[in-house]
Amino acid sequence: MTPCVAKLTRDDLLALDVEDPLAPVRKRFCLPKGVIYLDGNSLGALPRTVIERTREVVEHQWGNGLIRSWTAHGWIDLPRTVGDKIARLVGARAGEVIVTDSTTVNIFRLACAALRARPDRRGVLLESDNFPADNYIAEGIRDWLDNVDLRFASAAKLANAIDDSVALVLASHVNYRTGRIQDLPGITAQAHDAGALVLWDLAHSAGIMPVDVDTNDVDLAVGCGYKYLCGGPGAPGFLFVAERLQEELLPPLYGWLGHAEPFAFEPKWRPAPGISRHQCGTPGVLGMTALDAALDVLLEVDLAAVRRKSVALSDAFVTLVEQECDGHGLALDSPRDASERGNQIVLRHSEGYAICQALIARNVIGDFRAPEHLRFGFSPLYLWHVDMWDAVAALRDVMEAREWDHPAFQRRAYVT
Ligand SMILES: Cc1ncc(COP(=O)(O)O)c(C=O)c1O
Repeated sequence: MTPCVAKLTRDDLLALDVEDPLAPVRKRFCLPKGVIYLDGNSLGALPRTVIERTREVVEHQWGNGLIRSWTAHGWIDLPRTVGDKIARLVGARAGEVIVTDSTTVNIFRLACAALRARPDRRGVLLESDNFPADNYIAEGIRDWLDNVDLRFASAAKLANAIDDSVALVLASHVNYRTGRIQDLPGITAQAHDAGALVLWDLAHSAGIMPVDVDTNDVDLAVGCGYKYLCGGPGAPGFLFVAERLQEELLPPLYGWLGHAEPFAFEPKWRPAPGISRHQCGTPGVLGMTALDAALDVLLEVDLAAVRRKSVALSDAFVTLVEQECDGHGLALDSPRDASERGNQIVLRHSEGYAICQALIARNVIGDFRAPEHLRFGFSPLYLWHVDMWDAVAALRDVMEAREWDHPAFQRRAYVT
């Protein structure tokens, strides 16, 4: 990376914090003192309100209410009520989002539903550099069903690969590794012109930037509850089905809670109207509760302001890496232009894993993505601008002292 001309100082960043309308929101999160947390793209920080709400649900609703709480406290409705909150964040209408299972399972559900809705087409077009699990699911579907034809194209060539044999395009709005934004409106329109459906993975965009699924005529989408939505480790995922498709699409999993009348205990499955048919088994109330409480914090802030600050933070970070770490072999693998990237920056270095560990030892927490990518996310709700300076100063110190050489940092953990 080459240094830019104008020098950015720590005072410049402190001045931005004084003006920042989102700065007070940080108090709503629990963060260990001294830690600069640049991994909210992987596991969002803990909103304080989650602690109180979870305690209330465990101690009072479960402890005292027992089974009565399914009705008295609306537990049974959580997949939809929490889904309606997520709908507001991604530009969907109430009744278009449901919270259930994991992102991966939801990809399976919606991809199968889309294939069933396009029986004359067997093509599934995948982004070759998508998060691998998305493509693994497609491979699994191909191996279970007859005659499914998987095609792969790079993100840049995806639009051109759509033709009238494609039933479904499966792609990520923001690439998990590079942070590059995919042309969601353009690809959606192109798929529709060819008669295909599109399933968008919003794991790296929901809650951190405007997505506008309805304005962009998105058919199907999924996303994670534990990244920017701050629902906690392993929080349930969500799925979106546009209202116009809801009666047409049938899930592959005929769950009893997706039945039109679950408590009629009929011998045969009948789909519930609308989005509810995609629900399967009993919702995990504790996980949904944490996600529900976290969403209340997110819904209080203006998403456009979140995006503006996310751009400012990541721009400052890149500028500072160019300025302070030049000559250390760190290559930017994210778009330099902030309008082309989501909320993360990746730097490539052959010692990426050990550098990441050395940074964590200095209380700057990012993560590592094989083969050699250091990944940093910039959650505007709990980061200050000055954190960018302090994080890059730590990175510079790690690089100058070659701290990655330490054997403790070279030992690869299972989770990276
Ligand atoms: C883009 C993307 N899609 C899907 C997943 C998988 O989500 P889950 O493990 O919750 O199914 C992840 C996880 O990090 C992801 O980043």
